[in-house]
Parts: sequence; C-alpha cells; structure tokens
Amino acid sequence: MKKKNLINEDIDIHVAERRNLNENKFKLKKYFLSIAFFLIFLLPFIGLAFKSNFKIILSGVNNVKKVVNNDLSILGHLPYKEISKEKLVFIEPNIEVHIDMSDSLLKMRKDARKDGIYLVFLSGYRSINLQKDIFYSLKSMRNQIAAERARVSAPPGYSEHSTGFAIDIGDAYNRETDFEVEFENTDAFRWLKKNAAKYHFKLSFNQNNKNVDYEPWHWRYEGSIEALKVFEASNRNLKKAKILKTYN
Ligand code: DAL
Ligand code: ZN
Repeated sequence: MKKKNLINEDIDIHVAERRNLNENKFKLKKYFLSIAFFLIFLLPFIGLAFKSNFKIILSGVNNVKKVVNNDLSILGHLPYKEISKEKLVFIEPNIEVHIDMSDSLLKMRKDARKDGIYLVFLSGYRSINLQKDIFYSLKSMRNQIAAERARVSAPPGYSEHSTGFAIDIGDAYNRETDFEVEFENTDAFRWLKKNAAKYHFKLSFNQNNKNVDYEPWHWRYEGSIEALKVFEASNRNLKKAKILKTYN
C-alpha cells in the first residue's frame, strides 16, 4: 500500500511538471502574440506620427527659409521711397538728381572729357507717377505681362530712379546705343567700368540678375550714408544671391 502511494506520488509529480511546462509555453505564446499585435496594429500609427512630426520639422526648415528670403521685392525690384523735392537739383534742363550726388556726377563727366570720353545723361530722378506711366502704359502698348515688363522697367514705387540716386548714361558718339545692351561696347561704358567707383557710382543691374535684364547704362550713387541706407537691402540681397549660388 505504501509502495503504491509512492508510485502515485511519482506519477503526480510528472504530470505536474508537464502541466507547468505547457503553461510556460502558453505564456511565451501569449507574449509573442502581444508583440505581434503591437507590431501589426500600433506600428503604422507610430509611423504616421513620426512622419507627421518629420513633416512639421521640414515645414519648420521651410519657414526659416521663407523668413530668410522675405525681402519685400516685387518681380525682382525692391521698394524705394520717392525723394522729397527739396533734395533734388537740376543739373541739365531735363535732368534732376539728388543734391548729394550732383557734384560727384558732374566731376565724373568732366574727368571723362579730359580722357576724350563724352558722357550723356539720359534719365535721372523719376517720380513714382512718371514710373507708373513708364511701367503700365508701355506694358499695355507692348502687350507685355507684368513679369516681362519688369525685366526692363521697375513697377511704380520700386525704381531706383525715384530716389534721385540713379542715373542712366549714354555715349555722345554712339547715341544709337542709348538704353541698349550694345552700350557696353562703347568707350563711354569701358571708361565708366574702369572709373565710376572713384566717383562712388556702381552698376545696378549686371549680367547675373535673375529677374531684371542687364542695363549697362544704369548707375547708382553710393557716396553718402543716405544713399548707402537706401541701397542697403539691395546690396544685402546681392550678397545673399551670391551665397545661395555658391551653395546651390
Ligand atoms: N530700368 C530700371 C529697372 C528702372 O526702371 O528703374
Ligand atoms: Zn535707369
């Protein structure tokens, strides 16, 4: 009787161990199943959340770019205030310029003459109203869209001419090149390219301009703090354009 009990106890222990083993396997299965559930059902949501966060980060980067590029320009032209009448002076019957630049401009023409170069002043100060006519009337007559017109003429309120610090220059011996790119082949342009900086003049629209055509005849004065302030945004933009070109 005692022996039988012992055997039974043996069997009981075996059965208990097997059950225990089965229970462990079941627990493991449950564990893997919950991980699979997690992977199948939750991962897409986590992915989506990550993707949208990534988008937010990217849009943040784009916003920074937008802020950096926010330069107030229209069709490649920066805004300029109209200079007050009392700061303007006539240097010829039809040419008015900012009083700060008149002496320097006249000295440049005088010195050019000494070198046998005859500079002609074609256009100086232009009011915003006159610029309106030049932009819209000619745009309409020539059947141009605004972007086309803006390649050769600034919209009203966006012309350097309204500041009194811009001057269009021609060559007295080559009047057919007035307001033409061919002006760059004249002695007057070659002389200006070599000497204009001495008189604080700078070419405003060079060949690298993206939105505005090359204007070898259009020079601006940067020989006073007022003039430098007026053209600060433009000079900064040129610098920025150069930097962007380097990194693109
Ligand atoms: N021609 C230049 C861009 C102006 O109109 O100011
Ligand atoms: Zn001009």
